[in-house]
Amino acid sequence: MEVRIFDTTLRDGEQSPGAAMRPSDRLRIGRALDRAGVDVIEAGFPAASPAVAASVAEIAAVVKRATVAALARAHDGDIAAAWDAIRRARNPRIHTFIATSPIHMEHKLRMEPRQVLAAVKNAVRGARALCHDVEFSAEDATRSDREFLVEVFQTAVDNGATTLNLPDTVGFTQPDEYRDLIAFLRRRVRGSERAVFSVHCHNDLGSAVANTLAAIRGGAGQVECTINGIGERAGNCALEEVLAALCIRRDIYDVDVRVEMQAIPALSKMVARATGMPLQKNKAVVGANAFAHESGIHQDGVLKHRATYEVVPAELLGRRAANLHLGRQSGRHAIRVRLERLGYSFEKPELDAFYRSFLEMANTKREITDADLRTIAGRIPAPQLAQMA
Ligand code: KIV
Ligand code: ZN
Repeated sequence: MEVRIFDTTLRDGEQSPGAAMRPSDRLRIGRALDRAGVDVIEAGFPAASPAVAASVAEIAAVVKRATVAALARAHDGDIAAAWDAIRRARNPRIHTFIATSPIHMEHKLRMEPRQVLAAVKNAVRGARALCHDVEFSAEDATRSDREFLVEVFQTAVDNGATTLNLPDTVGFTQPDEYRDLIAFLRRRVRGSERAVFSVHCHNDLGSAVANTLAAIRGGAGQVECTINGIGERAGNCALEEVLAALCIRRDIYDVDVRVEMQAIPALSKMVARATGMPLQKNKAVVGANAFAHESGIHQDGVLKHRATYEVVPAELLGRRAANLHLGRQSGRHAIRVRLERLGYSFEKPELDAFYRSFLEMANTKREITDADLRTIAGRIPAPQLAQMA
């Protein structure tokens, strides 16, 4: 089975507070996502402003392979603005949505459920009259009544929606529950086999990636994510984490995805720079420490065989040498290897002397650099130090 990767970095990702990007950066990211093999690029919400609409149109014009989606509330005006922005894309998609949970319908929309159903019908029909590819999202699906969701998605399918998305808008659901919800809707919505079920997870309880992966096991055929997991509040499901899990645990998921893992590090840096949102060091897959080791036991293991402490083969991400961070937890094996790379070769007594000096220095600073190693080596008495040619 194939799972489509829908990237919403340029829409939901940019909704992260303070993450607005320049049009030139948005265009560069759009192109890079396309080259990386992403199936759908959600380029923005054109009704938000003429500037967003212009940027979406610019991206739609240059993307070569991916589908380009534009978001629209279930309003005629939004749908027209979305279509206007993406009509020149090779593969355009209108993505329309309306909230379906009691709390959103009552307090935000101030609409009765029957009015919401009428809006779904009108929006999906209107979008389908313009574009053959229409995604419908039931916002806050995971806090919606299940029987009402059946009616909502039935209306969407009957009126031509080709993708049915169940957003976990506030990051509330948990893996088993979400998986079960997808399976339930697949069973109950007549004709839904003609559409693709999609999932869209936010990370408020830290469960976005786990929920997305569980939904794949429940039959989701599209997953919506952002690079670096950026997005509203605690963010969206991180694309690179889902991709890594699908690649490394094929034994569990057994699905095909088209995105190239090797493209991820550059995309991650590009998005961090363009949004001004630096990565935490221990961020899975793309953080600076994701492939770094300081403790002696781990360094020794990784030097003997990288898979002892690294589950993602570093080459998949275009990395080569193991990153051995030298600090006070480090052991002799890593120090000796680093010294050899610098051209020093020690016999055991010299290495012991070196190690004592190393520890003294490591107690005063967090990282011992190559320059520090050279300084320490310079202090080892000359007869004991054999510098290689
Ligand atoms: O989180 C959400 O519900 C959304 C929808 C608009 C898809 O971003
Ligand atoms: Zn969202």
